[in-house]
Amino acid sequence: METQVLVAYATKYGATAEIAERIGQALRQAGLRADVLPAARVADLTPYQAVVLGSAVYAGQWRKEAVKFLAANEKALAARPVWLFSSGPTGEGDPVQLTKGWSFPEAQKPLAERIRPRDIALFHGAVDMSKLNLLERLVLKAMRAPVGDFRDWNAITSWATAIADALKEG
Ligand SMILES: Cc1cc2nc3c(=O)[nH]c(=O)nc-3n(C[C@H](O)[C@H](O)[C@H](O)COP(=O)(O)O)c2cc1C
Repeated sequence: METQVLVAYATKYGATAEIAERIGQALRQAGLRADVLPAARVADLTPYQAVVLGSAVYAGQWRKEAVKFLAANEKALAARPVWLFSSGPTGEGDPVQLTKGWSFPEAQKPLAERIRPRDIALFHGAVDMSKLNLLERLVLKAMRAPVGDFRDWNAITSWATAIADALKEG
């Protein structure tokens, strides 16, 4: 039977949804079946043999739909190979250096330890000032965060290809 992978995501302005789509595309190119869906729309993990879950990062936190998804599906996730990613830092260079060492929300670490993901990735994000509300613009200015689309499609695709390789081996 072909492996069916769920790529679930939580986004506010769409950058993370596009990363999830790219991951789904790479998995399909590698010969797997992949559904790419907003985390809030997934009710049942039964059809899936593996799960990739990603969230945008705001003020060091995951979006609540991704947090809810993790908590609501803890048992099913712990029983499957799982990969987690965040989409956040803007600017050039290593994403973990840009976030000064942040790589996953502190509040979800105990849950992630129980789920035992195969990997947790941090990808660059994208900020479009014209989409942000006033408060968000002020926060970004205060953080001196670079504005623009810094998503690293090569890094995203190679991460997805490594997931496909791991699933095909196992
Ligand atoms: C108000 C605001 C706060 C943010 N806070 C963080 C943060 O704490 N850490 C981080 O890595 N990125 C942060 N970002 C960057 C976003 O995570 C990045 O733009 C992400 O790609 C947005 O994804 P989305 O379009 O899917 O919502 C912030 C962006 C905004 C607008």
